Amino acid sequence: MTAFERIVILTGAGLSAESGLATFRDKDGIWAKYDLSELATPEGFARNPARVHEFYNQRRRGLRSVAPNAAHQALARLERGHRGEVTIVTQNIDALHEAAGSTRLIHMHGELLKALCARCEARHPWHEDLSLDVACPACGRAGGMRPDVVWFGEWPYRMEEIQDLLRQADLFVSIGTSGTVYPAAGFVREARAAGARTLELNLEPSEGASLFAGAIHGPATRIVPAWVDALLEDAR
Ligand code: APR
Repeated sequence: MTAFERIVILTGAGLSAESGLATFRDKDGIWAKYDLSELATPEGFARNPARVHEFYNQRRRGLRSVAPNAAHQALARLERGHRGEVTIVTQNIDALHEAAGSTRLIHMHGELLKALCARCEARHPWHEDLSLDVACPACGRAGGMRPDVVWFGEWPYRMEEIQDLLRQADLFVSIGTSGTVYPAAGFVREARAAGARTLELNLEPSEGASLFAGAIHGPATRIVPAWVDALLEDAR
């Protein structure tokens, strides 16, 4: 296999599943239990901010008891060991890539451990519960603090940077995502149009499986370390 210069890796909830964090669309997933229109849209937040804050407060508290799994660790090892550039674009709002040591990382859907003030647009690291009563550390005003996560109907973060990465990639790998939510679900088309090899690593074929040149199916903690080891071996 040729050594790839610029690898772009898109990750989704399936990567954190074996760390104990629920996915969204599996049969026991988050959207099977909760109504996303109430909890993951600006309209839902405007209607009932306390309910949305409680939903994210529970998930933020849940991050205290989870750790990166072998797949997160393998991707950090790839970034350290690969001669070329490895950039992770994650849809996940947990901090497990960072905890595993990845540094070239874009959180396109935001981060659960950050808060955003809708009044002054300041962002703050945030590990505690959040509510509208909390005053923004920057502007001092309450009533505008929300989780710094991208809701349905909002535009993901750092998209221009991501589009540049996809245009220059020679390998695009999608790991642990159902390929159902745009714009992330369309990244494989952009990478392929730019001439990148494309590979899907997932428990089972995703909605976008037919768009990939290659696929490896199985649990992330098994298939991601094996794929990283083979890639690093080939590049030796
Ligand atoms: N190993 C590998 N893949 C897995 C595992 C596992 N242990 N467990 C589940 N998967 C796969 C599932 O087969 C599924 O294809 O991970 C994928 C998870 O899909 P979703 O639950 O739809 O999560 P994701 O694709 O990240 O959702 C995208 O939708 O709700 C929004 O903003 C939210 O970022 C999220 C976006």
